[in-house]
Amino acid sequence: MRMVDLIEKKRDGAELTTEEIRFFIEQYTNGSIPDYQVSALLMAIYFQDMSDRERADLTLAMVESGDQIDLSGIEGIKVDKHSTGGVGDTTTLVLGPLVAACGVPVAKMSGRGLGHTGGTIDKLEAIEGFHVELTTEQFTKQVNEMKLAVIGQSGNLTPADKKLYALRDVTGTVNSIPLIASSIMSKKIAAGADAIVLDVKTGEGAFMKTVEDARALATAMVQIGNNVGRQTMAIISDMSQPLGFAIGNSLEVKEAIDTLRGKGPEDLTELCMVLGSQMVVVGGKAKDLEEARGMLLEVIENGSAIEILKNFIEGQGGNPAVVDSPELLPQAQYTFEVPSKESGYISFIEADEIGTAAMILGAGRATKESEIDLAVGIVLHKKVGDAVKEGESLATIHANTQNVEQVMEILYKYIEFSKEPTKAPKLIEEIIT
Ligand code: URA
Ligand code: CA
Repeated sequence: MRMVDLIEKKRDGAELTTEEIRFFIEQYTNGSIPDYQVSALLMAIYFQDMSDRERADLTLAMVESGDQIDLSGIEGIKVDKHSTGGVGDTTTLVLGPLVAACGVPVAKMSGRGLGHTGGTIDKLEAIEGFHVELTTEQFTKQVNEMKLAVIGQSGNLTPADKKLYALRDVTGTVNSIPLIASSIMSKKIAAGADAIVLDVKTGEGAFMKTVEDARALATAMVQIGNNVGRQTMAIISDMSQPLGFAIGNSLEVKEAIDTLRGKGPEDLTELCMVLGSQMVVVGGKAKDLEEARGMLLEVIENGSAIEILKNFIEGQGGNPAVVDSPELLPQAQYTFEVPSKESGYISFIEADEIGTAAMILGAGRATKESEIDLAVGIVLHKKVGDAVKEGESLATIHANTQNVEQVMEILYKYIEFSKEPTKAPKLIEEIIT
């Protein structure tokens, strides 16, 4: 097989065979095919697209390029959730205990990652003593016993994706639905999930800015998952404003605890209900979304979701007392209110910019080497659609410096007002099964 033939075939709009896709992924991963040929093929895919069959083949070839996590020691249908990423997205911390309390095993591999705040692991490490360095045996045992465990990224998962992503980044081929969908799904599948629930975000704070693009990506990922034998569902949810009130690591842990007690922000709670219902259905614990939602409400009300959270924290070395006393989490030295300069209605809170403000405070990483300050961040008091009187606080800044001028400026600039009543954006655009 010659790479140049594959390039010409795709360039002219024909379909690549399973063997051809496997060939190019294997040979590229082991260094036998040069970047310039793969760049040309990626550009051809960018313009010519891929069939459903090609997309599934590409995903599986990437899965097989490295290690795969074996979760077969865990009883039940293992369901994983993936979000395409946004600002103040606290859902993983809520959903883990929530669906585990409904009997669905959650065996989560998570990352730190770059971004406005840390990843799920950084947030969990705000809890004193908590660690994610578990052996496979410990991980399996903890999931079997308490239905929930989180482990750090280990092993050599999808090396083909790592190489391809780096190449796409510098060849103008990131923004291609078949390439994005296969990249995300290969990582989920290699991490061992039997079933996958996807939260595809749309809006200013999201990777997919329009609903149309988000729908195309969600549909592509659902098809790939189902075509390779992993039941997959997706929702499209709003990320024009930050999710919930809290943006920052400790602050989001507290927000997750509040939500598990039924006292969380309305949007975060509803999103967790929708995603959680899907997880409980694909996990085989409810016959439909309505029954699943009833179960989720029940485990919040009867306290079993909070109980699971405590056991999970203790099981991974953390101090479970933080659940009843969140003030034990790292606290910032200073807080500053942001009083509104006008009366009116909030018309827009630009997620990306508010995320940047949290990052300036130190809540996120700009580079892989940056240290995160787990205590700092922003707690919004108003969301889009809310009425505000002049002088009322729009947000509280939690900082470990007294110099928060730049952060203040961003908040004033990107929390926008209208004199006319406004409406909250639609939270769930669509459910795709
Ligand atoms: N996230 C991924 O993991 N892969 C992509 O291609 C784009 C976003
Ligand atoms: Ca939040």
